Amino acid sequence: MHKRSGGDVVQSAFSIGSAEFKNRVLVASGTFGYGDECTDAVDIAQLGGVVTKSLSMKPRDGNPPPRIVETTGGMLNSIGLANIGVHRFIAEKMPFLRTVDVTLIVNIAASTVDEYCAVLDLLEGEEGIDGYEINISCPNVKEGGLNFGTNCQMTSEITRRLRARTKRPLFIKLTPNVTHIADFARAAADEGADAVSVMNTLIGMAINARTRRPILSTVTGGLSGPAVKPVALAKVYEASRAVKIPVIGIGGITNGVDAIEFLLAGATAVQVGTANFLDPAAGVRVAREMASFCEEQKVSDMSTLVAALDARTGVSVLDSWL
Ligand code: FUM
Repeated sequence: MHKRSGGDVVQSAFSIGSAEFKNRVLVASGTFGYGDECTDAVDIAQLGGVVTKSLSMKPRDGNPPPRIVETTGGMLNSIGLANIGVHRFIAEKMPFLRTVDVTLIVNIAASTVDEYCAVLDLLEGEEGIDGYEINISCPNVKEGGLNFGTNCQMTSEITRRLRARTKRPLFIKLTPNVTHIADFARAAADEGADAVSVMNTLIGMAINARTRRPILSTVTGGLSGPAVKPVALAKVYEASRAVKIPVIGIGGITNGVDAIEFLLAGATAVQVGTANFLDPAAGVRVAREMASFCEEQKVSDMSTLVAALDARTGVSVLDSWL
């Protein structure tokens, strides 16, 4: 809840399965470490939730540099799922995370379906984890990643196998690098996912014309930041009309009005990602700005904005795909 002037409140809390979120802004995986690095700069208890960097079974060094480059209105990354591995996460990060009053969603990445299952099984033994986000959409690895996320059958299988192992909420993070994201949202929903996170990064590349070389060591990477927001809004609009489970909107959100646009398009909540690199407190600010917008618009309950887009004046080509 956010205080409104005059003592009223804007209702912004929501829940997905057993996970309760204080407000509708989470920080996106890969943009906020494991939640313990930014505590000098931001009170993470004011966030709706923290989504950790993707965890694999073994630690990963990721791709060689250069693996990050700024582009017009965006950021291109090819980190390659660098992470400390699930064992170190449990030993070194969970003790702190358990002390913070914030909803914790642990993101899992893997090269095989069995690895997803094994990582989740280890995390199941840990108190203080409120849910999982399953990364089937990293564009920067040869195994797993997009091989899974662009294949509807794999999306179904991964969701089914993980659903059978946990009662905790399961979010499936989808890629925009497909023709019809609605099909992938349906595949996840039909196998029992509690939500889909829409969207991961768009495949992109940057070139140095003078050297005639790609800037990233892996040639291509994943584009994020304000440049992708219009794409993300359309993907959220499409996915949210295809499924009944919540859609978590991600893509280029830098302020509260951006986030409200995602709710109108059909998102139940949002994740702030690239903006955290400029300001680790961006997520908290976005949550505050959403509340101010509601106050200004005399909206007392943010849930009334979800899918409240007035699209009477237009018919999208997406409609023919649903
Ligand atoms: O390369 C990376 O670590 C990016 C991950 C992702 O976009 O899921």
